Amino acid sequence: MGEYRITGGRPLFGEVAIGGAKNAALPILAAAVLGRRSIIHNCPRISDIFCTIEILRALGCVVSFEGNTVIVDTHSIEPCALPHEMASQMRSSIIFAGGMLGRFGWAEMAHPGGCKLGKRQIDLHLQALRALGAQAENEDGIIRAKAERLVGASIVLKTPSVGATQNAMLAAVLAKGITTIENAAKEPEIIDLQNFLIKIGAKITGGGSEKIVVEGVDEKHLGDAEHNVMPDRIVAGTYMTAAAICGGKIRLNRIVYDDIRPIADVLAAGGVEVTAHNDCVEVTASQRFTAVNQITTAPHPGFPTDMQPQITALLATAEGRSCVVENIFESRDRHVAELAKMGANILNIGGRRFDIVGVERLHGAEVSAHDLRCGAALILAGLGAHGETIVTDSVHIERGYDGIDADLRKLGADISLSWS
Ligand code: EPZ
Repeated sequence: MGEYRITGGRPLFGEVAIGGAKNAALPILAAAVLGRRSIIHNCPRISDIFCTIEILRALGCVVSFEGNTVIVDTHSIEPCALPHEMASQMRSSIIFAGGMLGRFGWAEMAHPGGCKLGKRQIDLHLQALRALGAQAENEDGIIRAKAERLVGASIVLKTPSVGATQNAMLAAVLAKGITTIENAAKEPEIIDLQNFLIKIGAKITGGGSEKIVVEGVDEKHLGDAEHNVMPDRIVAGTYMTAAAICGGKIRLNRIVYDDIRPIADVLAAGGVEVTAHNDCVEVTASQRFTAVNQITTAPHPGFPTDMQPQITALLATAEGRSCVVENIFESRDRHVAELAKMGANILNIGGRRFDIVGVERLHGAEVSAHDLRCGAALILAGLGAHGETIVTDSVHIERGYDGIDADLRKLGADISLSWS
């Protein structure tokens, strides 16, 4: 297992470029089963991407990954059940269902894995596929779906699930007729997926709004595409929060400001100077962060749940009291006990609400990255803490951050990653 070693107390200065978004690249790679030859640039070199590539290869696709470009050729694709080991490793494997149903009329895979943040049901995914005429069941941990021909339908999601929206989009591409997806997720990653689907020949509008409309096309309509994955707004937010914790002045290149606006607004409210330029953002933190009264996670354009552990780490040493409410997942709270080992004063009221009394400074400790964003939060806490922090179970962090230690070292942090 790997571990990050951080010696805290150094301000951050300099600039880094933000890589491609994990949560955009993963559904786009799954969507490639609908196309012919897809060239997808700006893919982060993280374990979930490598796992997705293995799934595509198991389906018979010819896939290359050089630098940050993935090329997927589906000419020799053969429908088969997704390899259990890979599909059960990550949440995004379920997004293969929509494309496979569309292209082959059937799909079979293990129940998806991913960070343990609560129930993480898949009922909305199954609802969407059934609405389009598929038989879709989740029996004994295996998802099986089949359909003679998918037919366009009106789908209304009871919650704006990102994954269910993506699955419905993919399944609707080849469905006969018009599909509407209402109460759709509005995350920027939905827009990026729509842009890719349009490039392979799908007819789809409304991505980023609460209503997406897909006009089904014939398979011969779908072809080659070349696409650049959008920048990762959560990686950007993580580094912005690092500067807020450590102090200093950093510049993040290749950013879409609108995507990080909810994060920038919170940091600015606490006294951090955030300046937007063309495709970059400058973050200057010259004083201790002032606690903001309450932060509640919400679907985009609300404050993103994937930044909740990181902002909690910042509030742990803010001036004053604050409250964080996690409204997306039932128990995205495993970072709380780990931060407490570092001296944080956080009352975890039932896994969704955290009352935080800021302390002057945390102290280093050995802590565990229970999941991806928990790990990111602990790295940030270590950057500001007194002494050395060891963050174990780095494998969770490597699922979503492509070289976080190298980026932070470039900004002046004392951090290293080692494997035992
Ligand atoms: C995506 O997960 C992201 N993952 C998550 O990022 C992100 O936190 C989440 O969207 C919300 O923005 C990927 O894109 C790979 P949801 P997803 O369906 O699609 C419930 C990270 O750290 N729900 O929008 O699984 C669900 O339990 C990860 O990068 C149902 O009840 O999220 C959750 O409480 C973590 N039934 C809420 O909806 C369903 O069928 C939001 O889930 C589906 C979801």
